[in-house]
Amino acid sequence: MAATFATVPNPAIAEGEVLLEVDNLRTYFDTVSGTVRSVDGVSYQVQAGRTLGVVGESGCGKSVTALSILRLVPTPPGRFAGGQIRYRGTDLLSLTEKQMRQIRGNRISMIFQEPMTSLNPVLTVGRQIAETVMVHQKLSRRDAYRRAEEMLRLVQIAEPERRVHEYPYQLSGGMRQRVMIALALACNPEVLIADEPTTALDVTIQAQIVDLLRNLQKTLGMGIVLITHDLGVVAECCDRVAVMYAGRKVEEAPVAELFDRPLHPYTRALMGSMPSMNTTSQRLAEIPGMVPAPSELGKGCSFAPRCSYATERCRVDAPELMAHGVDHVVACHEVARVAKEPGLLATAAATTAATAAPAPSADLTGVQA
Ligand SMILES: Nc1ncnc2c1ncn2[C@@H]1O[C@H](COP(=O)(O)OP(=O)(O)OP(=O)(O)O)[C@@H](O)[C@H]1O
Ligand code: SF4
Ligand SMILES: [Mg+2]
Repeated sequence: MAATFATVPNPAIAEGEVLLEVDNLRTYFDTVSGTVRSVDGVSYQVQAGRTLGVVGESGCGKSVTALSILRLVPTPPGRFAGGQIRYRGTDLLSLTEKQMRQIRGNRISMIFQEPMTSLNPVLTVGRQIAETVMVHQKLSRRDAYRRAEEMLRLVQIAEPERRVHEYPYQLSGGMRQRVMIALALACNPEVLIADEPTTALDVTIQAQIVDLLRNLQKTLGMGIVLITHDLGVVAECCDRVAVMYAGRKVEEAPVAELFDRPLHPYTRALMGSMPSMNTTSQRLAEIPGMVPAPSELGKGCSFAPRCSYATERCRVDAPELMAHGVDHVVACHEVARVAKEPGLLATAAATTAATAAPAPSADLTGVQA
């Protein structure tokens, strides 16, 4: 394929450069039943050419963090209660809505959690992509449609010259997801936030979409935030992983380090409950017990009611993130005790051998074998 706009790396990006910094972000919702602290002091960085995985159970604040980056949280009831979101050093929370529109979809793009509802059903997919590039890139209608076709080709949709004139309902789920990716990448963003981009798809299509994202990243060099429940996808695609629980980041490390040496009991519960770490595309098993509603958070560690390592201190004193080894942060008072237990792979092997109860190292309240 000849080099075109869509197939050359963004010249402004140097690999490894920090593009986006979420710094101690707090996003709260004021509701009739009180303040919901959906994101409560989360920090992470996105680097060019690298993928940050964000994992955690439902309701942990993964999407609200992502929506906050693009300032798409409805305010009210939402509000930014603290922190900064810096894109190349500029605090996005201080920009006007007009300035933000220059960033959104152009510099920072998002594939939304529910693609079926994100595409406009009454517009052809070509028009939806064309309108995005017309707004941001000031192209003529003719060139914008050409770009739309080029983007459909880039995401490997067959016969793009025909598909560009079709409506979302005429496409399969996998194709609609490819259109979402094309739409998100149409303006050659520096940062792509992909919120559960494969959840609604069957396993074969999921693998194709994951491959596509990886290849596009190699070609275009953007930084990716990949929100997922799928640890197979994390292992395959991500450079780093941030684990979230109840609105906070509880652990972060490079992917190999996190899988080899998970230090937070919650991370171990997520990983230890998988049948085997050698298989791919395993969804996280549910951990019995509930993530506390953000409105019900007490003052101690929010994981305490489900954690067998919990002590009296855990119930009154919320742990701060601390460095444990090179490039590995954990928020847990009992890291020293957790670290003495066998690592994840030993735990998974023991769990498989036992087939019934969890191995002692994964002895977390309610974790299934
Ligand atoms: N508009 C809102 N008003 C009140 N609470 C909200 C609102 N939007 C989100 N929340 C709450 O914020 C918390 C975090 O939600 P979020 O959508 O970020 O979870 P998530 O980690 O993305 O979960 P999932 O894996 O299910 O997508 C949840 O408890 C949710 O109920
Ligand atoms: S701080 Fe205490 S309750 Fe929280 S994860 Fe660590 S041991 Fe468990
Ligand atoms: Mg979500």
